[in-house]
Amino acid sequence: MPRLDRHLSKQLNIKRSDVRRLLAQGRILVDGKPATDISQTINQFSLVECDGQSTLANTARYLMLHKPAGVVSATQDQQHQTVIDLLEQPWKDQLHIAGRLDFNTTGLMLLTNDGLWSRQLSLPGSQLVKRYRVQVEQPLSIDYIDAFEQGFYFDYENITTRPAELKILSDFVAEVGLVEGRYHQIKRMFGQFDNKVLSIHRFAVGSLVLDNELNPGQSRSLSPAELEALATMMGQART
Ligand code: URA
Repeated sequence: MPRLDRHLSKQLNIKRSDVRRLLAQGRILVDGKPATDISQTINQFSLVECDGQSTLANTARYLMLHKPAGVVSATQDQQHQTVIDLLEQPWKDQLHIAGRLDFNTTGLMLLTNDGLWSRQLSLPGSQLVKRYRVQVEQPLSIDYIDAFEQGFYFDYENITTRPAELKILSDFVAEVGLVEGRYHQIKRMFGQFDNKVLSIHRFAVGSLVLDNELNPGQSRSLSPAELEALATMMGQART
């Protein structure tokens, strides 16, 4: 468990003597209460404030969340529960979403406070394949594979979708790999065959795979190894 004085010294980039002064002046709050004890310990859920500002604002956060159906991929919504509402961390309001999913889509969602990282992830040049398991209403056939590979023309945006992988798992279930994220892209792709999509579940983004220990609604931080593997993948795509 980290000590409060070490945390403050590191986050605020100040000397231990300055930390002592801040504590003595009552300018440090831990979970809303003034802290006075230099050896007090804190944990990852502690809200530490200096002069009313969270000291964690500069700590980079990367989370994977198992998004349930019926939750909005937004930070705020007047009507529905949002993915942020599912979190308990005191710093959850600093987070934004790296790659939205539709209201009823389930699966791997990434949240961060690192704008550079989320921008990198969403750049078409990053070539990160997002993998989805999709259930449809009408039986699939091998013609779909070629059509997904060739791309579909989307009138509204006046674009042709980038080559997508389609693996047929059974008559009504396929795996789709996309390197882009157009509005309702998967629904619109199957829509070109008049085949209604019944469910979509994202299980991977690049090298990151949804942790099967996470139940819908649960989240955890990405490990340093996961972050590194993803960074290597994005780096390789650019070179
Ligand atoms: N394509 C869709 O249609 N919906 C999603 O949530 C993701 C991809």
